[in-house]
Amino acid sequence: MQEAIKGGGEQAIQKQKASGKMTARDRILALLDPESFQEYDLFVKHAGVDFDMDKKYLPGDGVITGTGSINGWPVCIFAQDFTVAGGSLGYMHAKKITKIMDHAMKMKVPLIGINDSGGARIQEGVNSLAGYGEIFFRNTLASGIIPQISVILGPCAGGAVYSPALTDFVFVVDKISKMFITGPEVIKTVLGEEISMEDLGGAKVHAEVTGNAHFYAESEQECFEQIKKLMSFIPWNNEKTAEPFPRKAPRSRQYKIDNIFPTDPMQPYDVRDIIRALVDDSEFFEIHQLWAQNIVIGFARLDGKTVGFVANQPLILAGVLDVDSSDKAARFIRFCDAFSIPLVTLVDLPGYLPGIDQEHAGVIRHGAKILYAYSEATVPKLTVILRKAYGGGYIAMCSHHLRADFVFAWPTAEIAVMGPEGAANIIFRDKIKASPTPNETRKQLIEEYRQKFANPYVAAAYGYVDAVIEPGETRNFLVHSLNIAANKCEQRPTKKHGIPPF
Ligand code: HXC
Repeated sequence: MQEAIKGGGEQAIQKQKASGKMTARDRILALLDPESFQEYDLFVKHAGVDFDMDKKYLPGDGVITGTGSINGWPVCIFAQDFTVAGGSLGYMHAKKITKIMDHAMKMKVPLIGINDSGGARIQEGVNSLAGYGEIFFRNTLASGIIPQISVILGPCAGGAVYSPALTDFVFVVDKISKMFITGPEVIKTVLGEEISMEDLGGAKVHAEVTGNAHFYAESEQECFEQIKKLMSFIPWNNEKTAEPFPRKAPRSRQYKIDNIFPTDPMQPYDVRDIIRALVDDSEFFEIHQLWAQNIVIGFARLDGKTVGFVANQPLILAGVLDVDSSDKAARFIRFCDAFSIPLVTLVDLPGYLPGIDQEHAGVIRHGAKILYAYSEATVPKLTVILRKAYGGGYIAMCSHHLRADFVFAWPTAEIAVMGPEGAANIIFRDKIKASPTPNETRKQLIEEYRQKFANPYVAAAYGYVDAVIEPGETRNFLVHSLNIAANKCEQRPTKKHGIPPF
């Protein structure tokens, strides 16, 4: 037993530690509540017979599986052991993982996978591939039923990154996590291109550029703290709601809307500070903090209950919607909807980003995802329009038309097809041209347009805005609306499933 617990042996453990990594067992113990871990299948033997594999002993077949708790809440967990054949996935290794996945589904508790693996075990051929297929199938079945969390803590290749891609949240750690389908060696051989592992698929690359990672940490310990925090916001499964916490007021001395929200409509501000000014204890747990920063998503609590925030970020690209920000928001909306987490949307955007790059990158298809996700979602949906809500952006950011339950607007809201400047230039083109003082006339007509349309009252007159509220009243309106919507029940037509613009 002692031999099995030691994994790949002293030398391999020292190598693992020398590269700045914890061992698989230490990781599980560091993440779970003290003394809560129960291990299964420690004595499983690998099934490889070719290439002299039958003569090799691979302790635990390179993966540790079991159950435990985080913050007192139950979880199923596996951690691949890189000290044993590089954590590669053979037939029995896969069987251990699928068994714990089946437990997670049966018991309806979250699944956490710590991935540190070179992918399919080459010596076991098609049986390794079959193992991955079985895992992907279960990831898909479990999607929307139990939360699935992936932690990338080593060089992960092939199947070792596709399973995480099917899960809800992916965590990476600086210098330790690497993710790629094919590594630098293969790329060099096939394409003649040279790139380091870090530049190809390091933690920063996936947290900032590809968006494959939702959370980035400087160390494994910090990563585990992030996981614990995430777990505190989400329910165990799709039949439960997230655990309520004692209600706390926002830290209003530090976060005061009047001090954060600029009087000049052209001036940017950090929408995360507005969120902090609204939520319990001013605590906002941001997801995808480094990717597609023109939209902000994350969890917070209102009156002790978890809500998911989606907010345009005027600090970055004026908060426009584009390919990546639409993908980012749409996936989050679907997570919240699947797990009964109400959505709060804060709107301030000039619309979808124009440009050849965006058009050719498929902004039509990607932008449609957010329309689909909001329309599909039946959890309580509250929207607050802070400033600009122009064109497609107005509709997309959870308008009444996509079935928001309550839409509030601050007096500073501008709800129109486009901004006054653009609109005046188009609809008054002839008037401006004919004027002896075109600049003056343009200014005057822009102001006329602003007075008439760039405000919340036209939309409110049609009932598209339920109430025009002062910024300082927002928290009360949100808490009140959440209480009203607590038993919300909204049906959608019965169908096998929809076909979102994936
Ligand atoms: C068998 C493997 C292995 C694998 C690593 N090892 N990957 N054994 N199958 N896939 C073994 C090594 O032989 C070595 O054994 C030990 O693990 C440590 O590996 P190193 O190469 O020494 O470590 P490092 O230099 O850190 O490099 C890690 C690595 C590299 C980047 C992961 O090992 C690598 O490129 N491996 C192959 C990756 C890959 O192409 N996998 C197949 C993906 S295809 P010893 O005995 O020397 O200690 C796939 C199919 C599913 O996964 C696709 C689904 C869509």
